[in-house]
Amino acid sequence: MLRISIIGAGYVGLSTAVCFASRGYRVITSTQKEENVRNLNAGRAPFYEPGLDEALTRSIESKHLHAEISRAKAVSGTDLSFITVATPDQVDGTIDLSYIISASEDIGRALREKKAYHVVIVKSTVTPGTTRDVVKRALEETSDLVAGRDFGLCMNPEFLRQGSAIEDTLHPERVVIGQYDERSGNVLEELLVDFYEHPVPILKMGLESAEMVKYASNSFLATKISYANEMANVCERVPGVDVSKVMAGVGLDHRITPQFLNAGAGFGGSCLPKDVKALCKFAEACGYNALLLRAVLAINDAQVRRVVQLALKILGKPEGKKVALLGLAFKPNTDDLREAPSLKIAKALITAGVNVSAFDPVVKKIALPEFDALECADSIWACLVGAHCCVVVTEWEQFKVLTPDDFINHMARPAVVDARRIFDPRQFRERLTFIAVGLGNDFV
Ligand code: UDX
Repeated sequence: MLRISIIGAGYVGLSTAVCFASRGYRVITSTQKEENVRNLNAGRAPFYEPGLDEALTRSIESKHLHAEISRAKAVSGTDLSFITVATPDQVDGTIDLSYIISASEDIGRALREKKAYHVVIVKSTVTPGTTRDVVKRALEETSDLVAGRDFGLCMNPEFLRQGSAIEDTLHPERVVIGQYDERSGNVLEELLVDFYEHPVPILKMGLESAEMVKYASNSFLATKISYANEMANVCERVPGVDVSKVMAGVGLDHRITPQFLNAGAGFGGSCLPKDVKALCKFAEACGYNALLLRAVLAINDAQVRRVVQLALKILGKPEGKKVALLGLAFKPNTDDLREAPSLKIAKALITAGVNVSAFDPVVKKIALPEFDALECADSIWACLVGAHCCVVVTEWEQFKVLTPDDFINHMARPAVVDARRIFDPRQFRERLTFIAVGLGNDFV
């Protein structure tokens, strides 16, 4: 069985590591923070992801997985290395490749000593050309070896979603392999065919096409969401029209599908906003103005402002009023706050003079000075008490079971902005002030 090293222990790296370990592979995961190495070896993931701690503990106890600070040791003790380090966005929207470069250089230096054939696989999201121009160059320069002859090189984009990372890693809908040369692609394909234990469509292509698939996929998902939000904005202006009914009708067309047509507070997270921005910048650098993607981003920004506008309309004079935010994470089943609509909504309301209290089942505090004024309540009830408006920002299951009485009994003035469409408008409108994204209303 091939031995695997994973450089980087974020969502992608760690999910990949525990899933390979769960199928009997020997895996070394390398991360550069000593505290993370200690925690991982004790079975604790550095972030919340359903099922991950349990899977990690099993992998560590069975000795199929261990964490290691030294990348050299990780590479020299294995046959393949996946690069899964972060590619964060920069102020101008392009991605920061410094982690990719340092990982490639460290792997290259280890390969210089190792001698035996090794395949390096880029799993991080990188714009087309990065694997060939940046990773390959760094590997060759530091190893004194030649790609395709002495070592293999592939690009294998990851499509897992936070909140279902383990399930997505074990059961992907498709696998994309970008290969520098045929031998590298074949080694990775054999590994993955053995790993998945069930038939999965595997598409092989060039490195640059594989890099592009990831951006094109996330851009399409973001486009669907912004499309749904645009439809919502039209629907809101027409009494009696409800975007969720409209999208249900639209989504049954098998050419469209129902997924990612939920209008709401807009898309957040570590991928969709970053990837669409990076693709816009990449297109620009290639001499193309990505008009559709720019519109997708503009609609997404406007959607947060629309939710704030609805809350402020309910409040009338904002000073001295309290708004309860239900949900902080960018989506349910994660504690991730990156690009979360909740933060932008909270900030805008605080700036308008509103007292904002938030409750999230997993996120218990926000360690950013700019959110000092945001109260993190320890229960739904503490969040709602005395509030003049409640905004549903994240569709956690705990919130879906709330009834009109729960709001009436706790709030100073029961009024709800359902920005994730979790409540039945008929039931709520009869009992309290109720506005929902995409629901025809008088608040235009
Ligand atoms: C996304 C891609 O789905 C995944 O394939 C890729 O590997 C990484 O990026 P993720 O960031 O985990 O995954 O979240 P996703 O489930 O795609 O949701 C992103 C955002 O879109 C969330 O803020 C969510 O609330 C929002 N969203 C999603 C909507 O507003 N409406 C929808 O219909 C679907």
